[in-house]
Parts: sequence; structure tokens; C-alpha cells
Amino acid sequence: MIQDKQYLMIPGPTPVPPAVMAAMSRPIIGHRTDEFADMHKRIVERLRIVFQTKNDIFVLTHSGTGGMETAVANAVEPGDKVLSLVTGNFGERFAKIARAYGADVEELQFGWGNCVDLKAVKEKLSANSYKLVLATQNETSTGVINDIAGIGSLVAKTPALFLVDGVSGVGGIEIKMDEWNVDILVTASQKAMMLPPGLAMVAVSPKAWRTVESNASPRFYFSLPAAKKSYEKWNTAYTPGVSLFAGLDAALDMMMTEGMENVYVRHRLLARATRAAAKALGLKLFARDEYASPVITSIESPEGIDGDSIRKVLKKEFGVTFAGGQGILKGKIFRIAHMGFADKMDVIIAVSALEMALARIGHPVELGSGVRAAQQVLLEGDD
Ligand SMILES: Cc1ncc(COP(=O)(O)O)c(C=O)c1O
Repeated sequence: MIQDKQYLMIPGPTPVPPAVMAAMSRPIIGHRTDEFADMHKRIVERLRIVFQTKNDIFVLTHSGTGGMETAVANAVEPGDKVLSLVTGNFGERFAKIARAYGADVEELQFGWGNCVDLKAVKEKLSANSYKLVLATQNETSTGVINDIAGIGSLVAKTPALFLVDGVSGVGGIEIKMDEWNVDILVTASQKAMMLPPGLAMVAVSPKAWRTVESNASPRFYFSLPAAKKSYEKWNTAYTPGVSLFAGLDAALDMMMTEGMENVYVRHRLLARATRAAAKALGLKLFARDEYASPVITSIESPEGIDGDSIRKVLKKEFGVTFAGGQGILKGKIFRIAHMGFADKMDVIIAVSALEMALARIGHPVELGSGVRAAQQVLLEGDD
């Protein structure tokens, strides 16, 4: 195997397109320059198309969790009542962050592998009063998407702010921040946005701003009012990841050229092909078709086989990396990302390598059957 020939199919970091790598390798520019300000403005204008918002969007030099913490640190004061809608690991993380900032967090658990049930949310919201509602757009740990529009319309009937972790969804799965009543939307660079790790993007509605500005809790690096002061001059409060900004500029060029609707159609097609392949191989999909993620497919490990042993063969023999299960799902599922810079032949590589790895560990498999199923979906084309 050629050492450098690797196929990264995890839900972040994801492969970075050559045009983005090239942009990041350009000479560093100073961040207090007109050149940087022009780039920053261009970035935010196009992020607004991706987020479908007129709101301010702060590009912060954090990982996704830093973006989530920024959202919480600026919206929460100790003792605030928070409803956290949990469908997996990242829903739990959002709740943990709010708790770390002293919120009185109620977790509404839907079970790993399920999506948020709107009826349960409606009941909770009508019986209680919350300052914030937290949700995950794409629960990466299970491969499930939540109905952000549906949750948003329920939250909008209450005084609560609606905070959404769109870290693994935004850029690959449609979101309409304004129309869907999202007050703070967070995403990160290293997933569907096609960049290396290191940037978080946090958009804030006017309703959320009122809370942020009146919040008396301490914050410094995570302060949105501090970020806003610089943002008004297309600057940043602290030294930004300048090369990552250049990369984001190039990634947004690619997204705008493809067109966001086409980006979403592509991701849905790749998910359908991956799912068809898994079914043809007799494997069980972890998430139901109705709420399966377009950017990541989770597959149950066959009876008696630890998913991590399949992943070991994939990596060692074929240079293919899938993600394993997290938390309670460790060893029980494996996850194939088709997120960001992913296209049809990536699915074919993933499925064909999976077939060979299953055969290698002695699981009965008809070589080519998964590939054929994926090919059929890919040839049928868009939905
Ligand atoms: C849905 C979701 N939220 C939050 C995070 C955390 O992001 P980061 O690892 O960049 O801090 C991830 C990362 O996998 C994620 O998938």
C-alpha cells in the first residue's frame, strides 16, 4: 500500500479540496489590513447565503465546541432554565456546556438513533418556561438529522432563544436560519465546509443579541460583544487563523459555483447510494430512512463482529478510514462520512473497501453486490 494514498471518510476533519489547500498556502497577510477586511466581508456575505440569514456571522478561531461554548457563554446566566434536546453525543455535549455555565438544564432524551419528536417538545414548551432551547441539526454520533424548522416554529411561540449546533450539517444539509427561527447557529470548518479544523462560525439573531448584550456573566475570549466591535470594521478581536480564512474564502467560491441546492442534492444522493449498498450487503442501517443524515451513514456492526475490527482492516489494508461508534455505540456501529468534498466515486471506494474488509474477516459477503447497488443509485441520479 502506498503510505500517502489515504481515503479519509470520517465526519471531520474531512478531505480538503486542492483549491482550498492552495489558497491556504499563499503568503500570510496581516489581519489588520484592508486585504484581510475585504476577504472577511466577502466571507460573511457568502456565509449568509449558506446560513440563509441576514444576521451577523462571526468567524472565530475555535473548534466547533468553542463555537458552541461561545453561544452558551453569551446567552446563559447562572440559574437560567435550559431545555436540551438530546439525540446523541453532541446533544449531550451542548447540555454539558450549558451546565458548566451554571444553567439549570433539563435534558429531553430521545434515544441514540432517534430524532427529536416534535410532540414531546411541544408538551415541554407548553408546560414550562425556558430561556434557551438547544438542538443538534445533524447528530454526528448516530447519523440522524433533526427537524430544525419544526423545532424552531415551536420555540418561536415562546420567549426562549433557539440555539442550534450545526457543526456537522451546515454546508452539506440545508438550513434556513431566519425562516426557521434559529437564534444562534454554530458551525465549524472541518466538516461540510471543506476546511481543516480551526474555525467556528457563529450567527446571532437580533433577538439573541438583546440577551447577549444584557448578559452580566463573565466572558473574555468567548465574548460576542468584543467580537462584534471588531467585526464592524471587518476585523477580529484577536489574531484569527488567517490561512484558514483564506481557505474559507476559496471553499465558499466552490460552494457558490456549485450552487447550494446542488450541494444539498449531491449529499442526499451520496447518502442514498451508501444506504442502498449497506442494505444490499445485508447490513443493518442504524438510522431510519426518514431521518437519516445526508452527510454521514451509520451502519450496525454485523452480529458477533466488533465494528472496530472492520475499521482496523479497512485502514491497514486499504488506507480507508471510517469512524467508529461513540460512547454507548462503541464497537456497535461504524460511520461512513460523505461530507463536504465528497463525490460519487468516494462512495464506490468506501463500499468496495467495506466489502473486502468484511470478506477478509470472514463475514459472508457477495463481492460487488454493495457496489452494484450504489452504482444503480448513482446512475439514477438526483432526487
Ligand atoms: C454535531 C457536532 N457538534 C460539535 C462537534 C464538536 O466540534 P469540534 O470537535 O470541532 O470541537 C462535532 C464534532 O464532531 C459535531 O459533529
